Amino acid sequence: MTNIICPVCGKALEKDNRSYKCENRHSFDEAKEGYVNLLVSSKAGSLIGDNKDMAKSRRDFLSKGYFSALSDEIVKIIGESRKLNPLICDICCGEGWYGDYIKSRFPCCMVGFDISKEMIRLAAKRHNGSTYFVANLSKIPLQSQSVDIAFHLFAPFHEKEFSRIIKKDGLIITAVAGEDHLFELKEILYDTPYKNDEEPPKAETLKLKEKRKVKKKIHLSGKEDIDALFRMTPYYYHTSEKDKAKLELYTELDVTVEFVIYIYGKTDC
Ligand SMILES: C[S@@+](CC[C@H](N)C(=O)[O-])C[C@H]1O[C@@H](n2cnc3c(N)ncnc32)[C@H](O)[C@@H]1O
Ligand SMILES: [Zn+2]
Repeated sequence: MTNIICPVCGKALEKDNRSYKCENRHSFDEAKEGYVNLLVSSKAGSLIGDNKDMAKSRRDFLSKGYFSALSDEIVKIIGESRKLNPLICDICCGEGWYGDYIKSRFPCCMVGFDISKEMIRLAAKRHNGSTYFVANLSKIPLQSQSVDIAFHLFAPFHEKEFSRIIKKDGLIITAVAGEDHLFELKEILYDTPYKNDEEPPKAETLKLKEKRKVKKKIHLSGKEDIDALFRMTPYYYHTSEKDKAKLELYTELDVTVEFVIYIYGKTDC
């Protein structure tokens, strides 16, 4: 199967041994981990998007299942859609934990992409039969109307491209942080912690069909998990060294995880 298109000319890409080729002879080699870089950019993929440290923290933390309440709800939504063996796209897939979780629980064909080569390298190393590629969401190298369900978690939104790649009756499942998400962590770090706004991504042509919330308290045992969680949040990069030091005193932490899921479809469905 391939719904992947050439990022240069837009023709279908076929896999030929260890490279992907289009009829216009544009060719993209598969990396040793099994992903393909389809980013047409003057900058090297390794310099764009989340770096090695962020990718590793995300993998270390998510692999412990702390956010499985969210992935369970996504599996449920996919099941409720009653699509048989759907083609699912993990938009801005990061290191691929969610896609892997879903694929192991629901028969489907999974493609995932991210602008960060480090993230995709880790995702591809899962060797779970999914297809991973490096790409920018502003120009997704997938055929128009080829995807049954796309999910998009904690990442920038691009309505025009998302709408283009999904089928007429396709779905976009988006998640943003709920108002209380990680509030206890923020209370430690900041004098005046704020709540998240839960605003859905702005959509003009896609129709918001449903909103769901998932909320749970998780227990982090050990400095390692607390540190991995902190490092995978944007707070890590916007917190002073003085405030960061406050968290080092903790060896255990009970923290709320709260996700708001927005489900979009095309307006005429
Ligand atoms: C907060 S992470 C979420 C990753 C994954 N969805 C998850 O929940 O584990 C945001 C991801 O968006 C990716 N990203 C940011 N801008 C992007 C773009 N323009 N195109 C593709 N990916 C992008 C980053 O590299 C990063 O992996
Ligand atoms: Zn081409």
